[in-house]
Amino acid sequence: MARPIFLLAACALALFATVASADVVEHTFRVGNLTVRKLCQERTIVAVNGRLPGPTIKAHEGDTLIIYVVNESPYNMTIHWHGIFQLLSGWADGPNYVTQCPIPPGGSYTYKFKVVGQEGTLWWHAHVSFLRATVYGALIIYPRAGTKAYPFPKPYEEVPILLGEWWNANVVDIENEAIATGGAPNNSDAFTINGRPGDLYPCSSKHTYKLTVVRGKTYLLRIINAALNNQLFFKVAGHCFTVVAIDASYTDPYFTDVVTISPGQTVDALLVADASPGRYYMAAHPYVSVQNVTFDNTTTTGILRYVSAPPSSPPAMPALPAFNDTPTAHRFYTNLTGLLHPGAPTVPLAVDEHMFVTFGLGLIPCDKGNGTCAGPFGEQFAASMNNVSFQFPTKLSLLQAHFFGVPGLYTRDFPDSPPVVFDYTSPNVTLNLGLLQTVKATRLKRVKYNATVEMVLQNTALLGVENHPIHLHGFNFFVLAQGFGNYNPAVHKKSFNLVNPQVRNTIAVPVGGWAVIRFVANNPGVWIVHCHLDVHLPMGLATAFEVENGPTPSSTLPPPPADLPRC
Ligand code: C2O
Repeated sequence: MARPIFLLAACALALFATVASADVVEHTFRVGNLTVRKLCQERTIVAVNGRLPGPTIKAHEGDTLIIYVVNESPYNMTIHWHGIFQLLSGWADGPNYVTQCPIPPGGSYTYKFKVVGQEGTLWWHAHVSFLRATVYGALIIYPRAGTKAYPFPKPYEEVPILLGEWWNANVVDIENEAIATGGAPNNSDAFTINGRPGDLYPCSSKHTYKLTVVRGKTYLLRIINAALNNQLFFKVAGHCFTVVAIDASYTDPYFTDVVTISPGQTVDALLVADASPGRYYMAAHPYVSVQNVTFDNTTTTGILRYVSAPPSSPPAMPALPAFNDTPTAHRFYTNLTGLLHPGAPTVPLAVDEHMFVTFGLGLIPCDKGNGTCAGPFGEQFAASMNNVSFQFPTKLSLLQAHFFGVPGLYTRDFPDSPPVVFDYTSPNVTLNLGLLQTVKATRLKRVKYNATVEMVLQNTALLGVENHPIHLHGFNFFVLAQGFGNYNPAVHKKSFNLVNPQVRNTIAVPVGGWAVIRFVANNPGVWIVHCHLDVHLPMGLATAFEVENGPTPSSTLPPPPADLPRC
């Protein structure tokens, strides 16, 4: 549903010659219980408008989006528009207790924001507890109507491929059980493509996503990793991809037979239907960088079928990389470069805020009374950045506290470097009880409007190394360099790509390694940065930026909308 802004028409006839019209795109999201059958079981899930995945939002750059969310579910709800800048509209960002209090059961909230300066594939998801397991959908931003086209040949058809994760259980129970024991949540039971597990799972041959293609045509796959806790390898038998965008930022064309994608990320890939007419599996299974853990080692499949192929020919299966194939994941993640096109952002060279941020797992003392928790050493799992384990507020959102000057919810002393310098990625520190201890707190990093911030994201080996997808709200960032081991500025600064680095909103920091990102804090408000593995978010693998207002009304965060949920 889209209707033009008629208000513009009266005054803008002359302007229309150069500036294309902007539309208002409106949706109503009814979030409620839905009963579905999957993997031979009937389950009640929370879903939007009775669909899984939820509705695809389609807009053009420059449009205003108005999404009226009605919470008919039994749980608190918020929706986050993952990757949308939310320029001066932080009240619509959505993370629970960061930019808003949740929409209670029976409540509603209208998310209103403009999509400016970005195009490509993004998505939306619940940003409260584990509910995004089933509350998610695609958000596609087309180039502004009439002004620009894609910087690659126009595809014959565009196909959203949403990769998801499924539990034969209530996901809120799964999370609550982990919190109650201080341990890790149960592994999922399946992965899905567009909500369907595919026919390698029991009772699922009817629940297999199918894509019919015409020989010789090119398809744009808009691949989204909506899984909670797993990075994924994705392949299509007999076909290759040309990656043209990631996280709604254009890339130089990158030719590959495998896509690696972390939760939160998107990959736009062209697929040419140039194989002999037949049926081919598309398939995804996890990339698991952490050692000695159990994980969901199943494979989701869909079927790509040439129109001319007989419907019963057995599909060919692609050979997916091994679960622990870090070289393949690293090659994909690091070979991508940003496309230099008119309007592409350029890397700021002067840095105002230098941050060195260690992150990974840790422990806090067991608070379960009888003194035994399900984490290592009988303690509770925690996760941290610079050894601060992020504590979400429970009474008011950070953005409200920031805007109205309510004291006591957070402090402005998030450290620019870790409290202790140690050999961050050495296996010798893995079980060092002293280094493992962390503390829960809500400490923010305050930065001036328009400051250029550089973050070195350094993975630690505490309780083991792991590739964590770190997601920044409110901004895209440049990925200047990535590597394994400890970051060493004397060596690694030389490898910074300041010309055409990839631009992302979620960076899968190499396992036992580091990444350097840089962004301009041109958006006043409170913006969380966190691990997009949902297992680590409630453990505290997060912090937040408090970005000051700029000097003008157009660089000042407006007051909240009247219907912002009450706390
Ligand atoms: Cu996709 Cu803070 O989330």
